[in-house]
Parts: sequence; structure tokens; C-alpha cells
Amino acid sequence: MDNLIDQLNKYKEEIAASNATNADEVENFRIKYLGTKGLLKSVMGEMKNVPNDQKKQAGQLLNEFKQFVEAKYETLKAQFSGSHSHSENIDLSLPGNYIKIGSRHPLSITRNRIVSIFKRLGFALAEGPDIEDDWHNFGAMNLPEDHPARDMQDTFYIHQNPSWLLRTHTSSVQARVMETQKPPIRVICPGRVYRNETISARAHCFFHQVEGLYIDENVSFADLKQTLYFFVQEMFGKEVKVRFRPSYFPFTEPSAEMDISCLICGGKGCNVCKHTGWVEILGSGMVHPKVLENFGIDSTKYTGFAFGMGVERITQLKYRVNDLRLYSQNDIRFLQQFTGAV
Ligand code: PHE
Repeated sequence: MDNLIDQLNKYKEEIAASNATNADEVENFRIKYLGTKGLLKSVMGEMKNVPNDQKKQAGQLLNEFKQFVEAKYETLKAQFSGSHSHSENIDLSLPGNYIKIGSRHPLSITRNRIVSIFKRLGFALAEGPDIEDDWHNFGAMNLPEDHPARDMQDTFYIHQNPSWLLRTHTSSVQARVMETQKPPIRVICPGRVYRNETISARAHCFFHQVEGLYIDENVSFADLKQTLYFFVQEMFGKEVKVRFRPSYFPFTEPSAEMDISCLICGGKGCNVCKHTGWVEILGSGMVHPKVLENFGIDSTKYTGFAFGMGVERITQLKYRVNDLRLYSQNDIRFLQQFTGAV
């Protein structure tokens, strides 16, 4: 026992006299005294040689010794922990760690651009539910139950209640706006829509639309054309050509589809434009008087125009994406090509 006390005192003197001039020496101290093969461990090992009746006293001594070593270590460490991070070991001029940021989805980029162009013309944003009732998606849009044009849009009905469906176009949002607002109305309605199509490079069971609606006194087809010209020029540039073709939609009369000169081949003819030099980008027309009346809007006083476009199609033309499935596969090689775009 006396032996042990002598020994510990000797060690204590040695430890008390220890010094460190840098963080490495502090670490050496730790290894020498507190490490797994250090002095403290081996001194603790001595316990087994101490006779039973002295074990308690020896235990106390060793504990006290342990605290002594640890306290010394903390003191040495404190000398460097604060200062070294600034003065010695860290070079503040080094570049920081690179944090990889995600990118916006190309469809979001396109949608945001479309919306911001129409916002500049005074259109407000309107949104509505993806699950709709028959009235807002079809009935109010002049598509009664037996209307053959319902077949134009293969609808997903909700199994539990077939009077509910996944909206097939965001015209349903226009319906909700007309229901709650009085003219003048000027809204843009972006959103996801659903149609029961077999998935391929050219078709998907969901896609994205932006539809627009403008109702006021004296709104004419000339306003519709001018608004859409402006949109195309802002979206695709001034050199792009535009043409209107007569078309049919139950909710507009007259109706027209708008084509732009193919951006991929410059109008010479390619796969995307099916060798015609033109690609269709949207449907449009003057709001059918019946639709206005459905919402109590006086069709002798007010007129309006509406249009709807597919965000995927616009994105395809802008970024030359040739397979619709790429948009929803989340392949990082595809998505990271849009890093930095907003
Ligand atoms: N709702 C039509 C569609 O989904 C697009 C459209 C909107 C056409 C407004 C004309 C007017 O195909």
C-alpha cells in the first residue's frame, strides 16, 4: 500500500510538471496517461495486487489520481482549443465546402415562366382541386352527360363515387373562379391534369396545363390573338411564327388552335413537327355564352376568351425533351441538366 502511495505521488509530480506547447503535445499527453495503453490504465491494473482489506482505500487513492490526471489534461487542452482554430491551423482563405444544391424541375421552370408572362398582362393566379366533381370539370363547361366530346378526354373516375373524377383540364378552375367572382375576371390556372392514356414517349396519364380566362365588356377575338402573340414572343422569341387554325371545343365558340413554327427544325420539317414545320401549342376560343350563363354572367353584356396549353409540350420545344416519361422518372442525369435555371 505504501508502495502504491509513493508511486502515485511520483507520477503526480511528473504530471504536474508536464507542459504542452501545441495541440499535438496535448494529444501525446492524453495517449501517454489516459490512452487505452496509458499509465492510468496500468496503475488501475495494480488493484488486483492489493490485499482485500486495503482495496477500499486503494480505490479511493486511484480515483483521486484519475481525477488529477484528467484535470491536468483538460487544463492543457483548454490552452489550445480556443486559439488554434483561429490563429494556427485553419486557413480562412480556403474555399468552403461545396454544398450541392438541387435544381428546379423543368416543368416548374416552364410553368413559372408562363405564369409570369401572363402576370405582366394583369392575369391573377387561380388554383383548384385535382379531384373534381362532374359539374366543374364537364357540366359547367357545356359538356352535359351525353355529350360526345366527353370522349375527347379519357377520364379517371373515383371508384367509390363516380360523380367524382380526376380533373381532365384546369378549365375546372375557371369554373370555380366564375362561380365566386364577378367580371372583370382575368386569371391564369396552372395545374396537373389526368387522362386515361397508355404511357408512352408521347402520352402520359397525367400532365400539366396552364389555362387562362379573361371576361369583361367588349373582349374580342382580336384581344385573344394579341394576348397569345405576346405570350409566344415572350416565351420563344420574336422570330417565331404563329398561326391559328379553326377548331372545336364545347366551351368556346368560335374556337381555334394555335401553332408555332417548329423550333427544333426552324420550320424545315422534322419528327417533332411531323414534317409540317408547325407544332400545335394551345387551344383557345371565345367563351361560349352558355358557359357564362351557367354562372349567372350576362352574356349580352360580357364576353370573354379562354385558352389552355400543355406545359410538357412547351418544355419539349424549349429544351428539346423528346420523351414525356423523362419528366416523371426522376432520373438525376436528366434533372441536373436544369441546375441554375429558374
Ligand atoms: N380545356 C382544353 C383542353 O384541355 C383547352 C382549352 C381551354 C381550349 C380553353 C379552349 C379554351 O384541351
